[in-house]
Amino acid sequence: MSDREREPLTSFVVAVDGPAASGKGTIAKQLGEAFDLPVLDTGLLYRCVGMAMLNAHEDLENHEAAAAAAALITADQLDDPTLRSRRAGEAASRVAVHERVRGALLDFQRTFARQEGGAVLDGRDIGTVIAPDAPAKLFVTARPEVRAERRWKQLKAAGERVSLKDVLADIRRRDERDGGRDAAPMRPAADATLLETSEMSISQAADAARRIVEAARASWLSS
Ligand code: C5P
Repeated sequence: MSDREREPLTSFVVAVDGPAASGKGTIAKQLGEAFDLPVLDTGLLYRCVGMAMLNAHEDLENHEAAAAAAALITADQLDDPTLRSRRAGEAASRVAVHERVRGALLDFQRTFARQEGGAVLDGRDIGTVIAPDAPAKLFVTARPEVRAERRWKQLKAAGERVSLKDVLADIRRRDERDGGRDAAPMRPAADATLLETSEMSISQAADAARRIVEAARASWLSS
């Protein structure tokens, strides 16, 4: 760990973790607007690595090539709409199991988290690995069937032809890959607030998230 990584956080960082299609991306964006903070969707970094590997016809199991691709990622690559595709999501979750890929993406994420004023980051391991001392941490979940329906609607709106059944199978496979092993990245930080959104609309979930973060901010400011 470098000296910089050991420095305590002096900016207001909001960590929003959770499984695929839990609504964490939308919630993170709305928190960014509400608290006037920049937002990083860290899934895009893994999606970018996955797509770079597919475009180079590399085997996704090749952790050396994947780590090399991860080291080359820059912010301007993250706006590419193809990163939102189902294919990119699947490739992302396969390259994300490589520890060297995760290591190569650490600096990018920590630098974003440590910018002056603070930031919102959403992903799987923000509250545990990227910013373990973040003053506000949420773990957003919903039942797999609910998440599958949300993701299916998004994909359909983006013009992808896929059945709800296949999206549910994707979600279950990604849950297993992201959280099904001892060393898997996806687990709630011990001090994260759990937000179960299965019975909520996205605006109800975003409101609940804002209230949790407001309370965390008040206590951070007074500490
Ligand atoms: O959140 P999103 O669906 O875009 O993430 C794509 C994949 O990237 C996830 O299934 C997960 O495997 C990986 N990921 C990760 N750690 C993060 C963000 C995403 O392992 N912080």
